[in-house]
Amino acid sequence: MRQGLKMSDFTSNFWSFYVGGITVAAIAGCLLLLWISGQTKAMTTSDNTTGHVWDGNLREMNNPLPFWWVGLFLLTVAFGIAYLAIFPGLGTYPGAVGWTSTGQFDSEVEKGNAEVAPIYARFASMTTAQLAQDTEAMAIGERLFMNNCSQCHSSDARGGLGFPNLTDAAWSWGGTPERIHETITNGRTGVMAPIAASVGSADDVKNVANYVLSLSGASHDSARAALGKEKFVVCAACHNADGKGNQLLGAPDLTDDIWNLGSGEAFIISQINNGYTGVMPAWGTKFTPEQLNVLTAYVWGKGGGVAAEAAAEQAPAVAAEAAPVAGEEPAAAVLEELTTP
Ligand code: HEC
Ligand code: HEC
Repeated sequence: MRQGLKMSDFTSNFWSFYVGGITVAAIAGCLLLLWISGQTKAMTTSDNTTGHVWDGNLREMNNPLPFWWVGLFLLTVAFGIAYLAIFPGLGTYPGAVGWTSTGQFDSEVEKGNAEVAPIYARFASMTTAQLAQDTEAMAIGERLFMNNCSQCHSSDARGGLGFPNLTDAAWSWGGTPERIHETITNGRTGVMAPIAASVGSADDVKNVANYVLSLSGASHDSARAALGKEKFVVCAACHNADGKGNQLLGAPDLTDDIWNLGSGEAFIISQINNGYTGVMPAWGTKFTPEQLNVLTAYVWGKGGGVAAEAAAEQAPAVAAEAAPVAGEEPAAAVLEELTTP
C-alpha cells in the first residue's frame, strides 16, 4: 500500500482519485457557472429589463451579479482550495501540514497527561493507606469510580444483588491493597457450578441449605441442618470446612449473614441447583498504573479495607484453608471439576 494511504476502506487508489476528482470537479464547476452566468446576456430592452412581465406589472431586471457577491464567492472558492491544499480532504492526500484528527487527539491527550503527571508523581511514593487519606487523590478516585464502576457497584459503592458491596468487611476476593489492586487490574470470575448432583437428593439439598442457614444464625430447621452438615463436605472444597469461604476462588463467607446473590432457604437451594458465575471486568489496560493505585485506595478506603500488614500474617492461614482438609475431599481434581462452568 502506498505510504500515506490512511483511509482503511480504500483497497486501491481508485476511490481516492474518485473522491478527490469529484471535489476538484465541483470547485471547477462552481467557477465555470460563475463565468457562464457573467457571459450570457438575455435580451434586454433599453430600460435594462428582460422584457418579461408577470401579473401585469412585475418586470424582470437583467442586472449583473453584484460585485461584493462575486467577490465573496471567489473568496469562498479560494478558501476551499487553500483548505484542501493544507488539510487532508482530497482523497488520501494528507495535506501540506500533515494534520490528522488522531494526531490532534494524541497530542491533546499527551498534553493532558503532562499536566496531571506532577499530581500523580506526588502519589507515586504514597502507600494505599496514605492515598486514602489524601483529598486530591480521593477526588480523582471518586471521579474514576463514578465514571467506570458506579453503574455496577452503585455510586455509594454499596453495590446491589449480584454486585458486591465494596464498603463492608466482607470480601469474596480479599480486602488488602494487593488483592483489591489485583481484582481491579485483572478482573475476577467467580464460578460456582451447579452442584446438586454431588450433594444427593432434593432432600439432601434442602438439608445442606438449612445447614448453611445455621452457619450465620439465620432461622432454619435444626433437624435438617444436622442432617445437612455431613453433605457440606461438597461445599467445603470452595467455601471451606468452616464455611468462611476462600478468597483465592472468590467463594464467599457463608457465616457472616452478608449475601451477594440472595438469601433464605429457597435462594440457597436454587444456588446449589443452578450455580452462578459472576464476572468483574478487568481494567488493567484502560487505566494507567497510577490511576489503578488511586482506584485501589478509593475502594480500600471505603470502609472495608484490610491493612496490608495483617494480610502478611493472614496469608499462610488463607493458603492452608485453601487446601480442603485431608480425607474430606480429593482437592485438586474436585476443584477442577467444580470450577468448570
Ligand atoms: C467450585 C467451588 C464452589 C463449590 C463447590 C460451592 N460453591 Fe458456593 N459459591 C462459589 C462461588 C465462587 C460463589 C460466588 C459466585 C459469584 O458470585 O460469582 C459461591 C456462592 C455461593 C452462595 C451465594 C453467597 C452470597 O453471598 O450470595 C451460596 C449460598 C453458596 N455458594 C452455597 C454453596 C453451597 C451450599 C455449596 C455446597 C452444596 C456450594 N456453595 C458449593 C463456589 C463454590
Ligand atoms: C459490569 C459490572 C461491573 C463494573 C463496571 C465493575 N465491577 Fe467490580 N465487580 C462486579 C462483579 C459482578 C463482581 C463480583 C465478581 C464475583 O462474582 O466474584 C465485582 C467485584 C469487585 C470487587 C471484589 C469485591 C470482593 O468482594 O472481593 C472489587 C474490589 C471491585 N469489583 C471493584 C470495582 C471497581 C474499582 C470498578 C471500576 C473500575 C468495578 N469494580 C467495576 C461487576 C462490576
